[in-house]
Amino acid sequence: MGITVHPLSDVLGAEIKGVDLSNILDDVTVRDIHDAWMEHLVLLIRGQSIDDRQLVEFSSRFGSLDGAPIGSERGGKVSTDEHNEITVISNVIEDGQPIGGLGNLESDWHTDMSSYDEPPAASVLYSLEIPPTGGDTSFCNMYRAYETLPREVQAKLQDLKAIHDATLTSTGGLRHGFEAVKDVTQTPGARHPILRTHPETERTALFLGRRTNAYVPGLSVEESEALLDMLWENSTKAENTWTHTWQVGDLIMWDNRCAMHRRDPFDNAARRIMHRTQITGDQPFYKPPEVTPTAA
Ligand SMILES: [Fe+2]
Repeated sequence: MGITVHPLSDVLGAEIKGVDLSNILDDVTVRDIHDAWMEHLVLLIRGQSIDDRQLVEFSSRFGSLDGAPIGSERGGKVSTDEHNEITVISNVIEDGQPIGGLGNLESDWHTDMSSYDEPPAASVLYSLEIPPTGGDTSFCNMYRAYETLPREVQAKLQDLKAIHDATLTSTGGLRHGFEAVKDVTQTPGARHPILRTHPETERTALFLGRRTNAYVPGLSVEESEALLDMLWENSTKAENTWTHTWQVGDLIMWDNRCAMHRRDPFDNAARRIMHRTQITGDQPFYKPPEVTPTAA
């Protein structure tokens, strides 16, 4: 019995049914999941009961895994004792110490670690405890964000890059060791092409990373702000997004190369514990699609 794929919206996302991730998956099942992932950008697999070893085993079928990022955004430990590939995402405090990163605040739209030269390709997030309300995760389709732009804007973007701010966390806090940005032309962080060719699907996606402190070199600050505002508005409008409300045992895997994500805040009196793995990425690039000559 193979898996079945059930689209979750017209924008992106599909639920995979017929798979138990506590088992080692055969190569055909992994290929089918991978193919559905490339088509739908975000996959949901519900009702799982897996430990960290099984989460690492499943995730590593789709690429090599990064170690957990060094240093939590809130000062707590970020990886589990046995598995350095697992990042703990949580607001829970135990013995006076956060057990994970990110806390309970809203996290604004972003691509994970886009300020790095080689941002991760993807993330896999598994829910162990969830608050009764809040903490929903939303995704937006960056292929469509590109495809729905006017042709002249698409053409203009081909030669542009953007600086992806390294100073702020996804919840808006200043990262340790950085100073607040006063002039966006001096924002520290990687410079990536605004158009990005997906290395597997070869489709073109818009690549924005994060809005705060972003800057498009070569433009005046005013021109850069106006262009970025327009691109962000187009990318994150409701008809280009899908929101997931978590249940315990949900596993979500998203493609960081063509989908951005954000998270709603939740009551800090409630507990939220997620374990996450991250698949290693490579340097973003843009290769214009080959134009098929038309008959004269
Ligand atoms: Fe994130």
